Amino acid sequence: MEQAHIIVFGNEKGGSGKSTTAMHTAVALLRLGYKVGTIDLDARQGTLTRYVKNRFDFMKHSRKPILSPIHMPIPKSRCDTLQEQQAEERSFLTMALDELGRECDFIIMDTPGTDSYLSRLGHSYADTLVTPMNDSFIDLDLLARIDTRTYEILGPSVYSSMVNDQRGLKKIRSNSNKGIDWIVMRNRLAHIDAKNKKLIGDLLEKIGERAGFRTAPGFGERVIFKELFLKGLTLLDIKEDPDAKITLSELTARQEVRLLIAAINPQELKGKVRPYTPVVPSETAMRA
Ligand SMILES: Nc1ncnc2c1ncn2[C@@H]1O[C@H](COP(=O)(O)OP(=O)(O)OP(=O)(O)O)[C@@H](O)[C@H]1O
Ligand SMILES: [Mg+2]
Repeated sequence: MEQAHIIVFGNEKGGSGKSTTAMHTAVALLRLGYKVGTIDLDARQGTLTRYVKNRFDFMKHSRKPILSPIHMPIPKSRCDTLQEQQAEERSFLTMALDELGRECDFIIMDTPGTDSYLSRLGHSYADTLVTPMNDSFIDLDLLARIDTRTYEILGPSVYSSMVNDQRGLKKIRSNSNKGIDWIVMRNRLAHIDAKNKKLIGDLLEKIGERAGFRTAPGFGERVIFKELFLKGLTLLDIKEDPDAKITLSELTARQEVRLLIAAINPQELKGKVRPYTPVVPSETAMRA
């Protein structure tokens, strides 16, 4: 049987929007009719795990079924030695990938904003890697070393080197030439400061050619994301919320999510499927 397509959300920078975009992608794919599993490699912070839990709580209280992924948090090992810890974390992750891989069309993997063994391992399983970044030179610095005076690209940076290493490891493990389709998307785009926006956009295109990523349109800065997290909802299922008022800003934001999905191109990867009617899931869908 064909294995699930794995989409990893990563960036060695805290707070760039990995968990938010991971959840939005999971829900967007569910709504297209795909079966989706989610894996939280940042179980210590557990943002994606809490997001999914908040969604179950919303369903419990509203008694309204909404499409939800099968979720698995991967805990950090408590073994004594580093070697044992890595072996245990590797087996936790491969078991989760095996189980979800058989049931799902897509697996969404959220990673922490810092370098760790589990995060690197997760990247090595990516078929698609999505890196959300904020529009700043601090974020660009993780993709390439840049001369901030001349804007010349001096070489790869920590995160792009790590992605390159994992691309190599993936090829060795799968004994194939299948690499990682790396997409960088800008998040929290300001509506002002067009000059900075253009500069970062142009630089990203140049870095992408060298580091091997393509860019996708990003998400604007919107206060609604925080509120949505607390309810376990995304911009795509905002209609389920009786308190929500849908404004032009939300409609534009939904379109931004659709453009990210178009860049991932699920139909090309898994074919077209028909959306199905959700049912209220039991708590067992949240697998520990
Ligand atoms: N486009 C946006 N507009 C406004 N707020 C946003 C946007 N994207 C994310 N946020 C908010 O920024 C905060 C960090 O987002 P998120 O948790 O998704 O980032 P992260 O990269 O997963 O962080 P970490 O590295 O800590 O895991 C959250 O409070 C989230 O609601
Ligand atoms: Mg996160």
